[in-house]
Amino acid sequence: MELASIGGTARGGVCRLALTDLDRRARDLVRCWLEQAGCAVRVDAIGNLFARRVGLDSSLPAVATGSHIDSQPTGGKFDGAYGVLAGLEVIRTLNDYRIETRAPVELCVWTNEEGSRFVPVMMGSGVYGGAFTLDHALSASDHDGVTVRQALNAIGYAGQAPAAVCDGAEAFGAYFEAHIEQGPVLEAAGAVIGVVTAALGQRWYDVTVTGQEAHAGPTPMELRRDALQATLRLVQAVDRIAREEAPHGRGTVGCMNVFPNSRNTIPGRVAFSVDLRHVDDAKLARMDEALHIAAGLLHHPGSIEVDLQEVVNFPATSFDASLVERVRRAAQAQNLANIDVVSGAGHDAVYTARVSPTAMIFVPCKGGISHNEIEDASPGDLEAGAQVLMQVVLETAGWQLRAR
Ligand code: GLV
Ligand code: MN
Ligand code: MN
Repeated sequence: MELASIGGTARGGVCRLALTDLDRRARDLVRCWLEQAGCAVRVDAIGNLFARRVGLDSSLPAVATGSHIDSQPTGGKFDGAYGVLAGLEVIRTLNDYRIETRAPVELCVWTNEEGSRFVPVMMGSGVYGGAFTLDHALSASDHDGVTVRQALNAIGYAGQAPAAVCDGAEAFGAYFEAHIEQGPVLEAAGAVIGVVTAALGQRWYDVTVTGQEAHAGPTPMELRRDALQATLRLVQAVDRIAREEAPHGRGTVGCMNVFPNSRNTIPGRVAFSVDLRHVDDAKLARMDEALHIAAGLLHHPGSIEVDLQEVVNFPATSFDASLVERVRRAAQAQNLANIDVVSGAGHDAVYTARVSPTAMIFVPCKGGISHNEIEDASPGDLEAGAQVLMQVVLETAGWQLRAR
């Protein structure tokens, strides 16, 4: 709740966009908690934070956990923050019980998971896992033209450590991420723990439809080049394309800017986003093809022109089978009702999975609602997820009680 007060909104949510001053304050607070817990904190070149609790054998790769603390513009208290704070709680509990782990335990706070201010989404973990280059990420800019490089410098989080495993950042022995489910499946099943087997593949696009601005009165309907009317046809195609790939297809237009946005001028240009997802890569490719066909049908040079740029593209992810099984067994050992689930949301775990064995732990959120200020989760469920996280970290890292 203290973390949620940084960027807290009147409706009980959080607005803490990546690399803003609010993000800096949240990072400073979490960093302070981690240092108080005895961790050594380092920051890499994309601003990811890593807090290490030493192990008995420093030659072993770390067992890592974490998530993100940036939020959507109208986000909730738990998306991301839960995974970071569950990891902090694990570290504090290791301290309280004087537990020494064999492998080091590391907590990660990844930069710009949300992809709301800067694209690509899951930026810090994407650089880490080699999904795109550090330079590509640092060059991304927000709507005001501020680049990630400038924003990182402005908040004092442009670190020195190498950011990508392929550039020398350490690959983890294992990575576990606890997260709220962000959907309704666990609640409907009466389950407390979601054992996450996979995550949907995603493709994101920036689309620009260009027509011609003209006066709303004197221009007869048949002589218009109305960019918004053309856009609406494409927006409806996105919805249809996803429904045709039910039950796992997803298609969303969440962001739109109409130019010049004046009530008595025919829109000359519309810029909008498209987000397509599917768990089956062949079906996602088919959705991509259908989107290109729909855009092509609207494109008439000199009349209405459609420009479609792909800005995010990652395939469906299967998490590490033995770590997934470890999560399942930990839930069972604690008598927590659990089911296997597929993540509809993207997570940093999707990119860590490219370089380190990875698994996720989901807990329910109220009504399945997330990316909304009313997002909520019960203390009991959050605790259950942290217990499972504790168990799998201990089992994976190896442990003993410190001699008195
Ligand atoms: C991340 O929040 C996503 O878009 O799935
Ligand atoms: Mn998240
Ligand atoms: Mn999110």
